[in-house]
Amino acid sequence: MGDLVRFGISLEKELLNKFDLQIRGKKYTNRSEAIRDLIREVLIKSEWQKNQEVTGAITLVYNHHKRELVNQLMDIQHDYHDNVLSAQHLHLDHDNCLEIIAIKGRASRVEELFGKLKSTKGVKYSGLARATTGSKII
Ligand code: NI
Repeated sequence: MGDLVRFGISLEKELLNKFDLQIRGKKYTNRSEAIRDLIREVLIKSEWQKNQEVTGAITLVYNHHKRELVNQLMDIQHDYHDNVLSAQHLHLDHDNCLEIIAIKGRASRVEELFGKLKSTKGVKYSGLARATTGSKII
């Protein structure tokens, strides 16, 4: 961690009260850590917007009885093998599967991969947790 800097913030009391209520609900012990997290969120969002090297996780839920769908999802992942770090497949019940795909690469490429998986007919749920490599975030 770098040198700590203290700085003052002026804002409306009502806004601060709402913020305090929010962070208390999220179990932050002080405002500083909550503000640090907000800043990190902005920086990570910017990494994605600026098409930098990012990481994250794609989650999918689908019915594995639809063989064509399973093949399509596999083909797409192979097309993006440079971006797929690992894929974990969990059998939720007799019909449904949960797949968690760890990804890394240029943000645009990862978004493209996510878009293709998400739009595959028969996928019941898809989500993308947009994370960071951490190398530019303190
Ligand atoms: Ni399964």
